[in-house]
Amino acid sequence: MALVERVQAGKKYRSIAPGFVRRLSHDALERGLSGKSAVKAVRNKLHQVGNAYFRQNVDYAEKASILSEYQPDLYSDTVKKFCVNTMKAHASTAERLPILEDFYQTCLAPIAPVNSVLDLACGLNPLAIPWMPLSSGFRYHACDIYLDMVHFLQSFFDHFTLAASAEACDLIGEIPQPATQVAFLLKTIPCLEQVDRSIGQQILDKIPSEHILVSFPSQSLGGRQKGMPDFYREHFHELLAGKNWQVREFSFETELAFLVSR
Ligand SMILES: C[S@@+](CC[C@H](N)C(=O)[O-])C[C@H]1O[C@@H](n2cnc3c(N)ncnc32)[C@H](O)[C@@H]1O
Repeated sequence: MALVERVQAGKKYRSIAPGFVRRLSHDALERGLSGKSAVKAVRNKLHQVGNAYFRQNVDYAEKASILSEYQPDLYSDTVKKFCVNTMKAHASTAERLPILEDFYQTCLAPIAPVNSVLDLACGLNPLAIPWMPLSSGFRYHACDIYLDMVHFLQSFFDHFTLAASAEACDLIGEIPQPATQVAFLLKTIPCLEQVDRSIGQQILDKIPSEHILVSFPSQSLGGRQKGMPDFYREHFHELLAGKNWQVREFSFETELAFLVSR
């Protein structure tokens, strides 16, 4: 059986975009790994950059069924409560919950109301749409490596008849291209750099949006503080070296954000 299939024979790896598993399998074989050790190396990497963020298994079919019972009012208390509860399942998205009322209002204030968003490596973040300063009739495109998650996000968009789409992607290989006013690259650069160390600069260059909201975690997944904001601020400015882009910084308890305009 080919390495990709052996990796994806495990239940936890079945919903990951095959193109991304293929990339990691190729890297493992290039490093001379084979058999069980190759399967283990690919699964470890998938855990590190994806599965580790899930605090619990999400039953997307159940979530979609609950959602289908709701009135299609994106801003109702019932829907917002559903969004908050669902976002708790993804550690990265969950970390933003204590600052949700402020985060988008503050970071996007210079360009609000926003008419279109490209949410790259989105996690469950599109469920934070009710807290974003978006114009009526906004467009929203989201992508991540999980097929089941993006399928659920698409049903969320459809329920509210939003001009929005969610698809599987591998940002190391390709950046989805719909031109939007702003792209979100939230807490994702460090994650992609675990697969390709040089991806940070490349991805910033390739994103087709006028503005990019980039952020970094202020604490590790285990919750330890390790001077991370200073480290990531320096790293981000290294990635921007030589680019004449305007950068606004916003510091929150759980996240360090930059709005880049070009
Ligand atoms: C730290 S989380 C950030 C999630 C979301 N942006 C947020 O801030 O709430 C990193 C996300 O990157 C996704 N991811 C990892 N590698 C990826 C790749 N090569 N292409 C697209 N998404 C990827 C993971 O599945 C995960 O949802």
